[in-house]
Amino acid sequence: MPSQRALEAQDNALFTTSNGAPVAEPYAAQRVAANGPLLLQDFNLIDSLAHFARERIPERVVHAKGAGAHGYFETTHDVTDLSCASLFASVGKKTPVTVRFSTVGGELGSADTARDPRGFAVKFKTDEGNLDLVCNNTPVFFIRDPTKFPHFIHTQKRDPETHLKDPDMFWDYFSLNPESIHQVMILFSDRGTPVGYHHMHGYSGHTFKFVNKEGGFHYVQIHFRIQGGFQTLDNATAGRLAGENPDFGIEAMHNDIAAGKYPTWDVYVQTMTSEQAESFRYNILDLTKVWPHKDFPLRPVGRMVLNENPRNYFAEVEQAAFSPSHLVPGIEPSADPVLQSRLFSYPDTHRHRLGVNYQQLPVNKPLVPIANFQRDGYMAFDNQATRPNYQSSLVPLTYKPKPYEQVKHESWLGHANVDLSFITELDFEQPRALWEKVMDDTQREHFVGNVAGHFGNVKSAAVKERQLSVFAAVSQDLADRISKAIGHAQVKPLAVAPASSAIRFQYNERP
Ligand code: HEM
Repeated sequence: MPSQRALEAQDNALFTTSNGAPVAEPYAAQRVAANGPLLLQDFNLIDSLAHFARERIPERVVHAKGAGAHGYFETTHDVTDLSCASLFASVGKKTPVTVRFSTVGGELGSADTARDPRGFAVKFKTDEGNLDLVCNNTPVFFIRDPTKFPHFIHTQKRDPETHLKDPDMFWDYFSLNPESIHQVMILFSDRGTPVGYHHMHGYSGHTFKFVNKEGGFHYVQIHFRIQGGFQTLDNATAGRLAGENPDFGIEAMHNDIAAGKYPTWDVYVQTMTSEQAESFRYNILDLTKVWPHKDFPLRPVGRMVLNENPRNYFAEVEQAAFSPSHLVPGIEPSADPVLQSRLFSYPDTHRHRLGVNYQQLPVNKPLVPIANFQRDGYMAFDNQATRPNYQSSLVPLTYKPKPYEQVKHESWLGHANVDLSFITELDFEQPRALWEKVMDDTQREHFVGNVAGHFGNVKSAAVKERQLSVFAAVSQDLADRISKAIGHAQVKPLAVAPASSAIRFQYNERP
């Protein structure tokens, strides 16, 4: 069924070629006589064939399949003591947002209910430029060393020889990189198969810094909590839907928004002072850990409502370019190495996927005017007219000072450190708490079944043994239940270094 907007678009507009000329017979190629060859002068035919052949742009190298919508963020609580970002300036202030949810590993046509983390990317069009929070629906991630990202992703995609997804390489990676276990525990719980895209929470995962107008800063984790709770599918239902309706997630969100059932998230932050960060049990720059809510409670900030479907999917969702480096005054990145790498990687891929002027595309264009020295390049729609393209004293630009005096933030001291993935007992504490304390009996049963259904297909005995030893380091009971489900003998826990040998978070210069 065409949507209401699609019907409205049937406005009897005049058919034209791309240069605006009307065409009397647009569906008829020009031909010599009744049976002769075609004419090169037929611009309508060539215009349309040539454009058609160029319709595809590269799909996102990860997070290719997704759904998007527009709406707004409203500040509901005063957080100006934490951040001077203009979107938080006053309670009640609304900022337009564009959101894109996605699966990670599958291609553009893959199933929305696949077992996978979900992307949760939000672009806030603030009056001090665009702020993108490029989050996931899980609070942790598989790595803490960004050099692992491309080869990790390769193992979750297709085998270079068979072009098939391969359980051996999938589990080979996880078993060799046990810092992934916390995220693996979430992925193989029913949280790995959410109900569509708009019944799940979103998490910054990384630590960010909120800076207030005095120049003071707090470390923060940002949380989007869906009203109505995180809803999940069991493995069998997710599998059935993948076959029956691979676009289940896009469709469900579109229909709800069209029916006025607007998905709404309450937005919170967890905060930490620098002193708290240095005495915290876990390193705040380690993306495989969460901050316990009992020690760092959720503080309300605002709410996000999605109340508008895209009118054109390609222009408003496919061309959307989210980057963790699109930040605004009052919000800064932490030194988390994975975040630091992402600051580079996203605009880099946007220049490849969408072109150097991707920020000028309507969905990405900031609401505020742009003035700088960037010029030209492909598709420079807004080339800043007559403004000088250098720092001119004749037609000067003005510069907005920081709202605060420069204060001393972190100062770093020490030797280059390349062992970010060193595994210690700390890496198993939070996964163990998930298994022993957070999951109930049904969730544990589902978890074992979900793992067995996938891991049971591994052919390599070494990979099986190694991953079971990782599960056993979480809990012997957990490993034994998986072993039993796949018909494997008991495996002993992986030997790991004591918690005291983990890299602790520390930044102030030490005497
Ligand atoms: C998409 C790289 C880790 C969330 C992407 C894309 C790249 C990328 C190249 C495609 C972007 C595009 O084509 O527009 C990386 C690298 C990572 C990393 C190099 C680590 C070193 C993460 C983490 C999160 C995350 C930790 C969440 C906390 C997302 C989301 C998208 C995405 C939500 C989809 C954005 C959209 O909807 O357009 N990532 N990523 N990524 N990534 Fe990452």
